[in-house]
Amino acid sequence: MRSVSSVQLAVDASSPTPLHRQLYGQLREAILGRRIRPGARLPSTRMLAAEIGVSRNTILNAYEQLFAEGYLDARGGSATRVAECLPCDVMCVRGRQEGELRLTGVTRRPSSRGAMFSAAHRTCCSEEGPPRPFRTGLPDVGEFPSRIWAGLVARYWRRPSRALSGYGFSAGYPPLRKAISDYLRESRGVCCEPGQVIVVAGSQQGLDLTARVLLDPGDTVWMEDPGYLGARSAFAAAGARLQPVPVDQEGLDITAAAETDQTARMAYVTPSHQYPLGALMSLPRRLRLLDWARRTGAWILEDDYDSEFRYTGRPLAALQGLDTEGCVVYLGTFSKVLSPALRLGYLVVPPALVDVFTAAREVAGEHAPMMEQAALADFIADGHFARHIRRMRMIYAERQAALIKASSGFDGLFEVEPRPAGMHATLWLGTGMDDQETSRRAAEGGVDTRPMSIFWLRPPDRHGLLLGYAAFTPAEIREGVKKLSAALRGLGRSRRRSAVTSSRRPPSNSSPRRDL
Ligand SMILES: Cc1ncc(COP(=O)(O)O)c(C=O)c1O
Repeated sequence: MRSVSSVQLAVDASSPTPLHRQLYGQLREAILGRRIRPGARLPSTRMLAAEIGVSRNTILNAYEQLFAEGYLDARGGSATRVAECLPCDVMCVRGRQEGELRLTGVTRRPSSRGAMFSAAHRTCCSEEGPPRPFRTGLPDVGEFPSRIWAGLVARYWRRPSRALSGYGFSAGYPPLRKAISDYLRESRGVCCEPGQVIVVAGSQQGLDLTARVLLDPGDTVWMEDPGYLGARSAFAAAGARLQPVPVDQEGLDITAAAETDQTARMAYVTPSHQYPLGALMSLPRRLRLLDWARRTGAWILEDDYDSEFRYTGRPLAALQGLDTEGCVVYLGTFSKVLSPALRLGYLVVPPALVDVFTAAREVAGEHAPMMEQAALADFIADGHFARHIRRMRMIYAERQAALIKASSGFDGLFEVEPRPAGMHATLWLGTGMDDQETSRRAAEGGVDTRPMSIFWLRPPDRHGLLLGYAAFTPAEIREGVKKLSAALRGLGRSRRRSAVTSSRRPPSNSSPRRDL
């Protein structure tokens, strides 16, 4: 080991690390540790090479790397000096005491907004690993017409046009906005022009944008209770106060909401198929909700996430179609009808909000991938989308029937009642059974379920399991039911007679309020 002034530099010729890297690392550490002070002059390459006993090129390489990273300054052929302003000063890693850098043990915290994201995320527990019965929220992506889709996407990539290869349109590719508005007008009774459609990266981005554009921290949101965790996360991350509102067979209980809170800035609703209980919001409730929004100046966010899959009865048109005040923001997704991997969804916003939502979409990642947007526009316009929905509606209806039939064969251990819509069903558990524990046991037994209690903001008075059936074949469903029944049996024979399934009876709502 040789010394340069007060700094010990040593090279080890037997090390696999090149000599110049060894020197670079030692000098960098000495500079960062202020053992060589900013502005200090370094020995010439010739002198240092002689002192350490290495070639001059080795020193040159080490110095060059330090120059490149901003640790050294050389002013027009004069001496090499340590930079006055170090890269890490710029990155604000200065310790509080004595103005010294603290390279370890520095306390860095995210902003309070960052902390709100972490807190919001905790409410959203997702299942991991390959999908297995009864993972919720999944369509059968194996049935996705991937050859048609691949052909459409390839057509655009084979000869990429200038219009699609650069930065695109923040609010979405115009032909796709038109295809979406045509579809929504015809199939969902949504009242809109293509210019009101904002293409987003799935509903989740739509929820996040809506929360950020329409809510201030501290604003109250009426939240269906039980309700969708993704929406809760987005509102909580925006600093909103969540006001749980009970849900019954007619959807959101507006009377109960108005009795507990008069100040809400927004109501989040899933009127076509309440998530997770399944109620269809009645027409009188829809009108009352709109009337409330009109009187109070509040917004309504309508999440229409799976209304394409209604098996019996006539679907009610979207709530948005009844809005005469421009107070409803309508949210839809291609995650359920096509694939969640596409990350494509849409907002339909009142005309007065188009500019602000377009600006927010631009800030949040410019726009969705252009070739996929173009392919999707063709997929809809060429009729593949409508055909796929019709086909999947039949497949999912069959799968629900398979789940009901299979679950009725277990001697009353559990039972699933038919639902007129959707991709999931509820299995209510008997008194005293804990759904989180039951769900854990079921997972050990090879099936995924979601404990219903996670969807409640207030303590739930009933426990149950949410079962997704859409992504699984009837044979997989039958096998899953066997595994689930084995797990339930294992949970205690004494209780099993009291485990009854129903999608009919939401819990009573007498419990006190609990904020997120
Ligand atoms: C109520 C609700 N909204 C929206 C979505 C879809 O989310 P995304 O479009 O972000 O995949 C889901 C998916 O489970 C949902 O349950």
